[in-house]
Amino acid sequence: MDNRPQWGTRAGFILAAVGSAVGLGNIWRFPAVAYENGGGAFFLPYLFALLTAGIPLLVLEFTLGHKYRGSAPLTYAKLNKRFEWLGWWQVAISFIISTYYAVIIAWAMSFAGFSFSLKWGDDPGSFLFGDYLKLAETPGDVGGIVPGVFLPLIIVWVITLGVLFKGVKKGIEVANKIFIPALVILFLVIVVRALTLDGAAQGLEAFFKPDWSKIADGKVWVAAYGQIFFSLSIAFAIMITYSSYLPKKTDITNNAFITGFANSGFELLAGIGVFAALGFMASQAGVPVNEVVKAGVGLAFVVFPQIINEFPALNGMFGSLFFICLVLAGLSSLISIVETFVAGVQDKFKVSRTKAVLYGGGLSALISILFATKGGLYFLDAADYFINQFGVALAGLVEVVVVVWVLKELKNLQSHANSMSDIMLGAWFKICLGVVTPLVLGYMMVQNIITNIKDNY
Ligand code: PHE
Ligand code: NA
Repeated sequence: MDNRPQWGTRAGFILAAVGSAVGLGNIWRFPAVAYENGGGAFFLPYLFALLTAGIPLLVLEFTLGHKYRGSAPLTYAKLNKRFEWLGWWQVAISFIISTYYAVIIAWAMSFAGFSFSLKWGDDPGSFLFGDYLKLAETPGDVGGIVPGVFLPLIIVWVITLGVLFKGVKKGIEVANKIFIPALVILFLVIVVRALTLDGAAQGLEAFFKPDWSKIADGKVWVAAYGQIFFSLSIAFAIMITYSSYLPKKTDITNNAFITGFANSGFELLAGIGVFAALGFMASQAGVPVNEVVKAGVGLAFVVFPQIINEFPALNGMFGSLFFICLVLAGLSSLISIVETFVAGVQDKFKVSRTKAVLYGGGLSALISILFATKGGLYFLDAADYFINQFGVALAGLVEVVVVVWVLKELKNLQSHANSMSDIMLGAWFKICLGVVTPLVLGYMMVQNIITNIKDNY
């Protein structure tokens, strides 16, 4: 028996996995992606991607971590010495993401405070980019820390590294047991309030109205798979790391289903809340809903402040609830990303957790300060683009091909999971991971390359 740390309870593991999965992707990515890719009709490719790629890959990663009991690099190394690099590649993706994910959480933290005074004024867009981020005209003008971002960024890192110092059971598990129930309750309050606003019904109608013509469009399917991958934190080394702390006996397959459905459930809830609020805003402005739909930074830090401005009563409260939800969802994801390289470093160099957190987490924290400078948004955009174009789908594809086709491990993993589950993996698991997922991911990569070439030449 080694002395690898362990989750205290099964619920602790599931909450941590759900905490990693439920993040900014659910709140600001999913609603707009679904809307742009067919609205109600998007649910078909989305569910297909969840059931053929999302959950099977979660089962695969949970089983890998549980069976080999290692961080991603150690797990792949135990599988076959020649593939340790695959684990480090996934860890590297997580490392890069952590440097800017932290900055976005810091923005949300500031905006939770700004809500009370409506500090962004009548023009949240120029407030965000001008006053708050002090965005320079060109990246060449970079320089100088932006105090408004720097301070909350320090708080984000103190919380994250503090939790990781405490370890798996006393740190990560405890943090998620607080953050996730709090997130769900606060978010429900927002959704219920948003649903009672004028225009909410039109917002929902716009969101759910199916555009079936989109179903035949390959891009829509690519979007569905992309959303599922990012949203479930698959191929980021995270789920392997978290499941390496599972006790010997646990129902892996069941855990994966719960995690997958909980994440999608939250995504649906976010879609409803966001579109109810967008419907309200459109009705206030007297424009159709499609004119106010945005994703990402623009949705959270420009459109939402506008909605908060228009809010009938208690707008400061409503606004800060929304941003607190972003902070909670973000922190539980950030903790999981940083844990991947903390665990990787610990397993590889046999150093203490304290040292691994200090060096690994500390390095990411230092780099993240770069994004808290004037013009930092340029770096953030570049990093995000790079990761999305070349990181995730490719890492997932290589993972499936290596495990299933090169190392031919599927059968072993399947019997490992089946030996302790109520749900028996059979043909579904084999066909999805062996054929469907590699084909779809391969197609996605080719599409990606073609679009890149078209855009650049
Ligand atoms: N799954 C998270 C989300 O939906 C994003 C994330 C990706 C978090 C990778 C950690 C690592 O926002
Ligand atoms: Na998610």
